[in-house]
Amino acid sequence: MSILQYFEEQKSGTIPESYRELTREQMEARIVSIKQQLGEKLFIPGHHYQKDEVIQFADASGDSLQLAQLCAANEQAEHIVFCGVHFMAETADILTSDHQKVYLPDMRAGCSMADMANIFQTDRAWQALMELFGETIVPLTYVNSTAAIKAFVGKNGGASVTSSNAESMVKWAFTQKERILFLPDQHLGRNTAYQIGVPLEQMAIWNPIDDKLEYEGDIEDIKVILWKGHCSVHENFTVKNIIDIRQSEPDRRIIVHPECSREVVGLADDNGSTKYIIDAIEGAEPGSKWAIGTEMNLVNRLIHKHRDKDITSLNPSMCPCLTMNRIDLAHLLWSLDSIVNEEAVNTVQVDKETAKDAVTALERMLARA
Ligand code: 13P
Ligand code: SF4
Repeated sequence: MSILQYFEEQKSGTIPESYRELTREQMEARIVSIKQQLGEKLFIPGHHYQKDEVIQFADASGDSLQLAQLCAANEQAEHIVFCGVHFMAETADILTSDHQKVYLPDMRAGCSMADMANIFQTDRAWQALMELFGETIVPLTYVNSTAAIKAFVGKNGGASVTSSNAESMVKWAFTQKERILFLPDQHLGRNTAYQIGVPLEQMAIWNPIDDKLEYEGDIEDIKVILWKGHCSVHENFTVKNIIDIRQSEPDRRIIVHPECSREVVGLADDNGSTKYIIDAIEGAEPGSKWAIGTEMNLVNRLIHKHRDKDITSLNPSMCPCLTMNRIDLAHLLWSLDSIVNEEAVNTVQVDKETAKDAVTALERMLARA
């Protein structure tokens, strides 16, 4: 490859071909050596849904909330190489200081759920909802959303939430206003509101494609407006999966993430965030049987870590989150090389104006973690 081609690829965010020629051992050795060289100047947070080949190099692994907390607390790292998806890297950038740079090893590592709400749709929705309900609504956004939506929420008196603190955030929101607009995951919003006692009949759906409120009944009764978005991974756990397990192995406990549908969460034995699921499995009796409804890299890790327990995926033909999986050894090494060579690629930087309001939403979330 010519030098020109090399720089073209770097600019376009595509990994240079040369990385594809390296063996796993070569990549691992170089990552170890760069980590030693950079020491505390480098911090690699890794989400639990990352592949094993990547998570082995994470300085800390955690769920969305834990990783946001760790980034906010880290002052010494000049380079934060985020092994996760784009909204997590944006959050890290918003919560860290100006001298700290955040990188996402593969810019294609987005989140299909976060993509289901953009700021233009959100502005249109807000205008329509204001006309219907006046000043009675506070917006909440799952942290799985763009920085622009977090800024919108921060500006309008609302907050971000994660699956770990969704319940306390929804309770908090009801101390602020009579109604909540919950973006972009209808399932987390519905499951959380239901668990704190809001009846399903008092929940409406906002359809961002048709710019329309979906609700049958008197709109005065609406307490929660759920954005019509979902996680394309967790929607693959179905009622049929649960029925199959109940019939074949009634002693297998079923635990699912609240990004699953209300029907699935309602039929499961337990539900909770990624961290909640990990803690439940860790604390379970040896010999106990589990079916887990969450991302497959994590389920496989739990299967290998807890060989004294019988663990399966709730859906036997489940695959990992494709965008989380975009981060691999080659991209991690490419990112680290670019830092050492002072030709940084794939930096994630939220503009100051957006960050100013987004941080308000995130700080409200961190205050109730
Ligand atoms: P948590 O890390 O908050 O459990 O979220 C799961 C998820 O889907 C991350 O993208
Ligand atoms: Fe997004 Fe779902 Fe993947 Fe999480 S698991 S990054 S919510 S698509």
